[in-house]
Amino acid sequence: MRFSPAYVLPAFRALVLASPIAHPESETHTLFVRQDIQTPINASLPNVTIFATGGTIASQGTTNTQTIGYQVGLGVQQLVDAVPEILNISNIAGYQISNVDSGSVNQTISLKLAHQINEELAKDEISGVVVTHGTDTLEETAFFLELAVNSSKPVVVVGAMRPATALSADGPLNLLQAVTLAASENAKDRGTLISLNDRIGSAFYTTKNNANSLDTFFSTEAGQLGFFINQVPYFYYAPAAPLGVTHFNLTNATSLAQVDILYAHQDMDPALFNASYAAGADGIVVAGVGAGGMSSVASEAAESLFNATGIPMVSSHRSADGFVPSSEEGFTIGGGFYNPQKARVLLQMALTLGYDYDEIKELFAQSYPMP
Ligand SMILES: *[C@@H]1O[C@H](CO)[C@@H](O)[C@H](O)[C@H]1NC(C)=O
Ligand SMILES: *[C@@H]1O[C@H](CO)[C@@H](O)[C@H](O)[C@H]1NC(C)=O
Ligand SMILES: *[C@@H]1O[C@H](CO)[C@@H](O)[C@H](O)[C@H]1NC(C)=O
Ligand SMILES: *[C@@H]1O[C@H](CO)[C@@H](O)[C@H](O)[C@H]1NC(C)=O
Ligand SMILES: *[C@@H]1O[C@H](CO)[C@@H](O)[C@H](O)[C@H]1NC(C)=O
Ligand SMILES: *[C@@H]1O[C@H](CO)[C@@H](O)[C@H](O)[C@H]1NC(C)=O
Ligand SMILES: *[C@@H]1O[C@H](CO)[C@@H](O)[C@H](O)[C@H]1NC(C)=O
Ligand SMILES: *[C@@H]1O[C@H](CO)[C@@H](O)[C@H](O)[C@H]1NC(C)=O
Ligand SMILES: *[C@@H]1O[C@H](CO)[C@@H](O)[C@H](O)[C@H]1NC(C)=O
Repeated sequence: MRFSPAYVLPAFRALVLASPIAHPESETHTLFVRQDIQTPINASLPNVTIFATGGTIASQGTTNTQTIGYQVGLGVQQLVDAVPEILNISNIAGYQISNVDSGSVNQTISLKLAHQINEELAKDEISGVVVTHGTDTLEETAFFLELAVNSSKPVVVVGAMRPATALSADGPLNLLQAVTLAASENAKDRGTLISLNDRIGSAFYTTKNNANSLDTFFSTEAGQLGFFINQVPYFYYAPAAPLGVTHFNLTNATSLAQVDILYAHQDMDPALFNASYAAGADGIVVAGVGAGGMSSVASEAAESLFNATGIPMVSSHRSADGFVPSSEEGFTIGGGFYNPQKARVLLQMALTLGYDYDEIKELFAQSYPMP
């Protein structure tokens, strides 16, 4: 299903794909009715709700030295049971949203999370929420929540690099710090936070830098927001939202637009653009070389697809950091500071809510207002 039918030329689709691949039917959205855990209430403590999705933090290996190839499977109750210190700082309610590695987190899970977190934070007695998540795509879910959750209360996304069974497992302390943060007045009005390994970062900028190392979440240019000293969160700055953050109301959304990321490189196959569109993409993000570039052959293929269909294409950068501007005459939209996976989330949301090309261009431009 296309989300903005206005720019689709059905004849073109027939041209590029003889037998169209149907998009999977969107699932009916079911809100939670069941709370999976609830610890005893101490009325003088804040209340934090944990949404568990799986990941390494919920994984077990067969030995205490195994740090890859382990199995996801611990439930939210077991995560909390492993850190009794949590119950001295907060009353905990918990929901098991899914129990998968984060490579398998999908729109069903992220939409469920956004809907449920908005509901939870609307309750006066709730101070904040924690989402436990695999680290591989953690920044995508965190950025999604940054845009889809509308609350001044903290949303803290946390994971671990070592399974619960490992020597020096990092999950328990990360979870304690995340709950501390979610219950902290000082963490309010800072958007969605990513907290691991003593560091507190903004979901807007933080990205996973290393596939294996414990100290992997960084925001190189924009910097961190704070740090834990003796399990107390210290912040470097007064509370502020990232410049240009937009909130999207997805209350009525049951599925999200399809956005593909194409990775530019030497000899990039120009056929990928038409193939992506033919497979149902509503938008395309290019992880470009340098500041959003690609070969002249690939660029021409992208432009001919754009000319024929108007499908929005956002240029990002395959380099870890950097900025891609929009040009006046170009057909691609500059992705600003967003890395490809975050540009994809933003484009996906805009398309889901029916933004047209000009509105999407404006949305990306607004993210980085000119001085
Ligand atoms: C409830 O929490 C307060 C504040 O931390 C603490 O002083 C008190 O001992 C707790 N009560 C119980 C019954 O644990
Ligand atoms: C936590 O929830 C309990 C039970 O609803 C409530 O009595 C208490 O006031 C809440 N704590 C805070 C800090 O709001
Ligand atoms: C919780 O706090 C009480 C009172 O300070 C202390 O005796 C107990 O050891 C603490 N429990 C944990 C698990 O830290
Ligand atoms: C997302 O993953 C969940 C859990 O594995 C699954 O139930 C659901 O069908 C998936 N949704 C989509 C759109 O693939
Ligand atoms: C979304 O809009 C609805 C009204 O349609 C409102 O009730 C709800 O609070 C809004 N949600 C968010 C997250 O702003
Ligand atoms: C977010 O909430 C504020 C009030 O708290 C409201 O004015 C605004 O419209 C909401 N934004 C969205 C996108 O629903
Ligand atoms: C959601 O749908 C309802 C019913 O059609 C409508 O009244 C409401 O404005 C919609 N909310 C948003 C945020 O689109
Ligand atoms: C993409 O499809 C359009 C429309 O059918 C066609 O004109 C163009 O040559 C195709 N480009 C490539 C690189 O196959
Ligand atoms: C796309 O359209 C523009 C404006 O009409 C034209 O200048 C350009 O040559 C076209 N590009 C391709 C690859 O067809």
